Amino acid sequence: MVRDKPILFERYPNLKDRIPWVAIGNYPTPVQKMENLGKELEHNNLWIKRDDISTDFYGGNKIRKYEFVYGKILKSGKKIVATAGGIGTNHGLAAVFVGNQFGLKTRLYLFPQPLTWHVQRSLLLYHYLGAKIIFVKGVYRLILRLLGIRLFKRNYYLILIGASPLLGIGTSLGTLGFVNAVFELKKQIDAGEIPMPDYIFIPCGSTGTAAGLIAGCKIVGLKTKIRPVRVADAIVINTKNIARTANKVIKLLLKYDKSVPDIIINENDFDLEIDYYGSNYGVKTKRGQAAVDKIYELEGKQKDFKIETTYTGKTLAAMIDFAKQPENKEKVLLFWNTYNSVSLDEHLKNTNFNYTQLPKKFHKFYETSFQCWRIKKCLEQKRKKCPAYLCDEYRCWKVKVCSEQERKNCIAYNQLKDIIKLEEA
Ligand SMILES: Cc1ncc(COP(=O)(O)O)c(C=O)c1O
Repeated sequence: MVRDKPILFERYPNLKDRIPWVAIGNYPTPVQKMENLGKELEHNNLWIKRDDISTDFYGGNKIRKYEFVYGKILKSGKKIVATAGGIGTNHGLAAVFVGNQFGLKTRLYLFPQPLTWHVQRSLLLYHYLGAKIIFVKGVYRLILRLLGIRLFKRNYYLILIGASPLLGIGTSLGTLGFVNAVFELKKQIDAGEIPMPDYIFIPCGSTGTAAGLIAGCKIVGLKTKIRPVRVADAIVINTKNIARTANKVIKLLLKYDKSVPDIIINENDFDLEIDYYGSNYGVKTKRGQAAVDKIYELEGKQKDFKIETTYTGKTLAAMIDFAKQPENKEKVLLFWNTYNSVSLDEHLKNTNFNYTQLPKKFHKFYETSFQCWRIKKCLEQKRKKCPAYLCDEYRCWKVKVCSEQERKNCIAYNQLKDIIKLEEA
């Protein structure tokens, strides 16, 4: 069913004609109890919010942000959307999918991040889905590029990294998506679908998602405390900056509707988790990988979802450690799944792994092989029939069940099993 307005506009009707918005997602997203994880951790109140299935074509947290951001873009009449992120950016992928829905062109300015299969597959997908991708070597060059777009490209709409304000600069429209999400959650609590969470665990990469939830909880009057898990550099992700993003969105709401509570978010209104990040954005950590593996076995297989290691794995690791503490056994804990669970394998297969079609500067990211079929040099005919070929899981032994003996003798297994070093964090 296509919604004609977000819940926020039901509560504050003055916002309706003043804040741009377009329906993209299937909301509300379900809330589900994680019984098996609960049994394992001896905790009876572990929940998940399924933003990973927020559309039929691509899920994840960005869709909530884009309902407001793309509302503005469509209103502006601009036809080209430019944005930036790491070479494996989910935000960029979401922008291409959503842009295509509205007949917009997308340009992605991409900077380096640790190389993984996820990065290789994302680059293939951006290109296959029609985005123009431009490699930018470092942060300073990126800032210059984005400044150039802002000043000289009048027909471009620029979305900042993660669709959040950057150090206080930029629009709060994306953040608004997660203020709206709290109104949605409140309805689910009132309907008895989930008890009132004591804590919500959410990744924090550019502040908008977490800050929206923090502001939303205070506006709605929920006693729930947000625990953002830092997954990017402390220069951007710190308590001051998260509070600044939250206050900025409240100001935006107040500008258009004076009946919104005039409140201020301070650094004590949320609990930032900082121990799960590792040394850099995108690095895989031991606890993050363990959380990814555990949740897939215990919950993901049955409920058809996955998480990853840059954002959601680190976040779930924080929630698992928290749930183990005796003083938290009675607390209601909600893990907000911000990753995508809609299968992209069909698109991936269509790329034929033809990375030579990407701009030359990206070819070097394919020098490392994360795929069994490249290591074994399987022929085209064999590849096409194999379930491990171009599926989102790069470890073939996770796709095809093989015996311990077969693994021992397999060159792909031996080469791939430790290909990415996990950090201690
Ligand atoms: C899967 C996932 N979770 C969380 C985030 C972080 O959201 P935010 O940038 O609003 O902090 C991102 C950002 O790209 C993401 O891809």
